[in-house]
Amino acid sequence: MRIQSSLKNYEVNLVAELPQPHILAEVQSAFFVVDQNVYKLYPQLFAKIPLERLYVFEAVEQNKTIVSALAICEKITNMNAKRNAVLVSYGGGIIQDVTGFVANVMYRGIKWLFVPTTLLSACDSCIGSKTSLNYKSYKNLLGTFYPPDEIFICSEFFNTLTEQDYHSGLGEVVKFNVMTGLSGIENLEKKSPLLLSRDKDIVHEFVETSLRFKKNFIEQDEFDKGIRILLNFAHTFGHAIEVASSYHIPHGSAVAMGMLIANHISVNRNMLSEQLEHRIEKLTLPILTLKVSDEWFDIDCIMQAIRKDKKQINDALTAILLKGDLTLEIIHDLTKNEVSDSISYFLQILKKQV
Ligand SMILES: NC(=O)c1ccc[n+]([C@@H]2O[C@H](COP(=O)([O-])OP(=O)(O)OC[C@H]3O[C@@H](n4cnc5c(N)ncnc54)[C@H](O)[C@@H]3O)[C@@H](O)[C@H]2O)c1
Repeated sequence: MRIQSSLKNYEVNLVAELPQPHILAEVQSAFFVVDQNVYKLYPQLFAKIPLERLYVFEAVEQNKTIVSALAICEKITNMNAKRNAVLVSYGGGIIQDVTGFVANVMYRGIKWLFVPTTLLSACDSCIGSKTSLNYKSYKNLLGTFYPPDEIFICSEFFNTLTEQDYHSGLGEVVKFNVMTGLSGIENLEKKSPLLLSRDKDIVHEFVETSLRFKKNFIEQDEFDKGIRILLNFAHTFGHAIEVASSYHIPHGSAVAMGMLIANHISVNRNMLSEQLEHRIEKLTLPILTLKVSDEWFDIDCIMQAIRKDKKQINDALTAILLKGDLTLEIIHDLTKNEVSDSISYFLQILKKQV
């Protein structure tokens, strides 16, 4: 799949075998950043990479900082290769965000190859050009636009994800395929059991449908000034839940929850039928296996996080809602009462399934 970008066009390759780092790039001019868990789980894959060319990174939010980015820049500075240096990174969204930033600022932009090893980074974040770093207590405050030169996705990596991380990725997969329309919902209904059991071909198929859906928006609005805002469906609430839960709920799971909350608001506004709402719930609830605490859904914390969201540009609260024909609408009059009502509804259905 080729992604058109005003920065550089790039290719997403869905591959059957684990991509070997020394085959992706010539070791003499390359530097490799690898997620610590991936490094431990797949030691053979990195056996041919000399230690001075390798940076093993602990993927936790506290490390998604400018300090980590500079530490990698420092290592690259010590290499003979300069502007022709190639950065190759293996990991999820955290590794992607840090290494994308490094590749962008190092010599004003070096070649960057990215191998997403989480489902979330494969089905969503690997395309779209965003790089982000956390600053002080602010998540993703620093950032640039810089896509990889090439992306290699192999779903075999997802077999070793914890259930929590795999389900978080499925949150984005379900959201994108619901946004695709009725055919996306029907496809999910047919293939959900195989998707849940990590069937290699089915996972590839859904990664591809998710990326194709996102591609259409990012190609039209790469720098997030217009139509790309519709991709924020489920994120307004998802992001607020992440914050209110102090990031106990991972990104993709929070987005899946945010989608159900948004849909209930649509139903209450007579924009969406209960029948469609329930079909989407049936697809989403099986991936929400994380044990949650009621405190993580405190309405005042959630409203505060919604107001602080950098996508909110004035006092009228904005959200993206799904309509009965499965197209999206942007509303600017979101109220605390309707958010509160939908959260209560969501917690009820979540608890009913346990
Ligand atoms: N740049 C963007 O457009 C964008 C979009 C969405 C999210 N994000 C960012 O992505 C981050 C979340 O990314 P994520 O969910 O991919 O996870 P992650 O990078 O936080 O990784 C999650 C966990 O999975 C482990 N892991 C990675 N690959 C593995 C594998 N194959 N087997 C076993 N364990 C493995 C990691 O070590 C980590 O413990 C957040 O920081 C978020 O802000 C960025």
